Amino acid sequence: MLETLYFLGIAERRTASDIGPKFDGNQAVELPMIAPPPSLAGLRAQAAGCRACPLWKDATQIVFGEGPAHAQIMLMGEQPGDREDLAGKPFVGPAGQMLDRALKEAGIDRKKVYVTNAVKHFKFVPRGKIRLHQKPNTPEIRACRQWYERELATINPALVVAMGSTAAQSVFGKITPINKSRGHLIDMKDGRKALVTVHPSYLLRLPDQDSRAREYERFVDDLKIAATQLQRDKAA
Ligand code: URA
Repeated sequence: MLETLYFLGIAERRTASDIGPKFDGNQAVELPMIAPPPSLAGLRAQAAGCRACPLWKDATQIVFGEGPAHAQIMLMGEQPGDREDLAGKPFVGPAGQMLDRALKEAGIDRKKVYVTNAVKHFKFVPRGKIRLHQKPNTPEIRACRQWYERELATINPALVVAMGSTAAQSVFGKITPINKSRGHLIDMKDGRKALVTVHPSYLLRLPDQDSRAREYERFVDDLKIAATQLQRDKAA
């Protein structure tokens, strides 16, 4: 709601530094007032200057979504990791390799899907030479949702696949339990379908080989639902 008011120029505009530690994601913050962009390239350029939450300060750069401008499927992860932050591209690190493998097995060509994240700057804490991933909080997810909304409006995918709890929170606008919601198509109010599954990093974190193999198969099965939907849309 606030995002809509803000987008229409009705909401009050303040900078993240005006708000400082009191930032809770409910304030509208400063971005240039802009008409809806004509293209994905235009959106990407606008997003590069995003200051809607404080995460831009420590990140190397924004990691915007990537893929065909009119992809039928949008895949959403949580936020860029260390490798993605440096490369400026989503899902190029270990989670990306896991995702690529599973997509291939499900019969989905990654080059044909749009891949993005709920939060587009890397959130981390430094630990010596390492940057330790931190889960984005609700205010950060809300602040970044405007970019997802604009990606949706521009790309107009028939299906959005939310991978993990942060993506599901962004797609549904509320905390959404993965296990209850995963594995079936969900009708959205805007006529699109959504599919919830786990995040590929979850598979990397599983401690034993058996559970990793089992959960990987379930992940592939979920992606096969997306593949089937894609075939149906093509045939229609
Ligand atoms: N994890 C994510 O959620 N997104 C990426 O781009 C990489 C890792």
